[in-house]
Amino acid sequence: MTTRVGIVGTGGIAGVQADSLSRIDDAEIVAVTDIDEGRAREFAAKWGGRVDASLEAMLETGGVDIVHLCSPPGLHVAQGELVLRAGVSALSEKPPALSLAEFDRIRAAEEASSGWFATVSQHRFGGRARWLAERTADGALGDAMTAVCHTLWYRPESYFDMPWRGTWASEGGGPTMGHGIHQIDTMLSILGPWREVTAVAARRARPVETEDLSAALVTLESGAVVSIVNSLLSPRETSYLRFDYTHATVELEHLYGYGDDAWRFTAAPGAPEGLADEWERSATGRGSGHGAQFVETYAALAEGRPLPVTTADARDTLELLAAIYASAFEGRPVAKGEIDAASPFAASMRGSGAPWEEKVTA
Ligand SMILES: NC(=O)c1ccc[n+]([C@@H]2O[C@H](COP(=O)([O-])OP(=O)(O)OC[C@H]3O[C@@H](n4cnc5c(N)ncnc54)[C@H](O)[C@@H]3O)[C@@H](O)[C@H]2O)c1
Repeated sequence: MTTRVGIVGTGGIAGVQADSLSRIDDAEIVAVTDIDEGRAREFAAKWGGRVDASLEAMLETGGVDIVHLCSPPGLHVAQGELVLRAGVSALSEKPPALSLAEFDRIRAAEEASSGWFATVSQHRFGGRARWLAERTADGALGDAMTAVCHTLWYRPESYFDMPWRGTWASEGGGPTMGHGIHQIDTMLSILGPWREVTAVAARRARPVETEDLSAALVTLESGAVVSIVNSLLSPRETSYLRFDYTHATVELEHLYGYGDDAWRFTAAPGAPEGLADEWERSATGRGSGHGAQFVETYAALAEGRPLPVTTADARDTLELLAAIYASAFEGRPVAKGEIDAASPFAASMRGSGAPWEEKVTA
């Protein structure tokens, strides 16, 4: 069965998605829309699909099994609600919402719909990330002791020329929310749920409302301690994940996507026999990327299963992001579950009334 895909927002990431989609045999772009009609037409001419005047028009015309939300972050919730209300599934680019409260609207809409809502997190889907998540869960690597989760990227001032970037209202946050989310989500998908976080955030160099740098220490439910840095100020860019288990260190260093070669495995002295061989066999040739997630998404859709990354998974990550901001702005550790509906950090990552301005001018 061919999955019929609609695309909302035909800008930068939509092109990356379309390129991945073009390599999947049983999926096809059937409809696209953008507020810039010329851009939508150009996109459709290159990648296929009819051009609809709006998302509403796309849903009314129909013939779409899943809508990929490739619009700016502040639109994903309202567009996701429209899609779900039409009984269609949505796959939203990250971040799926600007706040936990917004995201809970999506969860409610999903419950009331026959469609599903999933979030793009393409680095979860590489073969070796999967192997590591499975071997963590079954204990083959021993206990996870500590981990490093670095998103050290570089964005010059011109990057923020795009009107939706760098503001709380349209991007929801800085590199914690917009960039580090990739590594943080991947790390959680491997090591499991988090328990408490202590963080700092700063705006050191870029003309933005949000932070351009944050760092956090996170204790996981397993007891492992993770250090996270999210930066847009790092000239030698890298995305670095490191996992230290009883029996091995496993590292991943890449930038925006990885293959098998980006990983490194170092066995501990006395590690169980066969573990290093098993690691060697985990090189399946399947790296990270939208394509790997799409294949799993369309298979789940065809079988009527929840689509990965599920709303429960995405909420766990979003809650950690909110807790990083809350800890940074309130200057205290924040535990999982603390950001309830009454918290100023539920409605906005900035937190209403948080002493952000005082902190950056100090
Ligand atoms: N997964 C990844 O690795 C990755 C990488 C880059 C960007 N992203 C995410 O993808 C999303 C889009 O980013 P981008 O860089 O492609 O942005 P972009 O600005 O290049 O593209 C967004 C497009 O949405 C269109 N748009 C705006 N409002 C619209 C509306 N109401 N209806 C329909 N279309 C509308 C714009 O005209 C534009 O063409 C963001 O959430 C971003 O965080 C994800």
